[in-house]
Amino acid sequence: MGEASADVVTLDLLRAARETVRTSPLGVVRTPTISWSQTALPLSVSCDVHIKLENLQRTGSFKIRGVANQFARRPRGGHFVTMSAGNYGKSFAYALKHYGSKGKVVMPETAPESRSVLIESFGAEVERVPTSGLMTAVQRCVREENMTFLHSYDDLDLIAGHASLGMELLEEVPGPDVVVVCCGGGGLLAGVAAAIKLSGCHKTRIYGVEPEGACTMFTSFRENKPVWMEAKSVASGLAPPSAGQSLPVPFIHPSIILPSIIHPSFHPSIHHP
Ligand SMILES: Cc1ncc(COP(=O)(O)O)c(C=O)c1O
Repeated sequence: MGEASADVVTLDLLRAARETVRTSPLGVVRTPTISWSQTALPLSVSCDVHIKLENLQRTGSFKIRGVANQFARRPRGGHFVTMSAGNYGKSFAYALKHYGSKGKVVMPETAPESRSVLIESFGAEVERVPTSGLMTAVQRCVREENMTFLHSYDDLDLIAGHASLGMELLEEVPGPDVVVVCCGGGGLLAGVAAAIKLSGCHKTRIYGVEPEGACTMFTSFRENKPVWMEAKSVASGLAPPSAGQSLPVPFIHPSIILPSIIHPSFHPSIHHP
């Protein structure tokens, strides 16, 4: 699935994924969207701010949405491997247990130990490696142990599952002026942006935000190709060694999505309002 390109994404595909997510046996929560107090912003700024509380998902993050759609479209009882700093790994391991599948999460050594412990408690294997060795370890599992790789951000089923978040948001806050999404590999940003743009909200500006020390998507846009870097950030979930290679970048690309990546050294040439 990861080889598909952005032009296969249609509103019908996203609606089907949303239904899969809604009815998933993994129990994906329709999270509340709350109004944020105006006092959180300078008084001169007049706007309504809404926050979608994805931390209330059963596995603690939005990742369960994409995972629900990925696992619904893979055979039960498979043997899977993924790489994750923790949040995707938690949802992946939770799904493995539910679907009676086996699997391994390859984690960066910098990820909190508590996350490995939790992932192992679901019955998944954990291998901790330096960040630069993540992909090599995954490839070895595929080659030598015949495991199927499930990507944690560069996968069409995952992105379509994450799009359900954008669809729920539009039902609660129709036609928003601006949507701000955190960005690691770009799977969430791609899904939310696809949902918003394909739903016809062409005026909505979508901003991806990533850590200064892990600005892989920003740099990929600037160089017009996916780049790898030694990412450094305490936000380990937002610091994969590269932005999505085949899917997120074209999804987020101006021809379809028109977001901007906010970064301290923001460069106007990649700003598409
Ligand atoms: C809490 C949280 N937010 C955002 C992200 C980034 O998601 P993506 O890699 O799809 O951009 C992650 C990734 O692990 C995460 O754990």
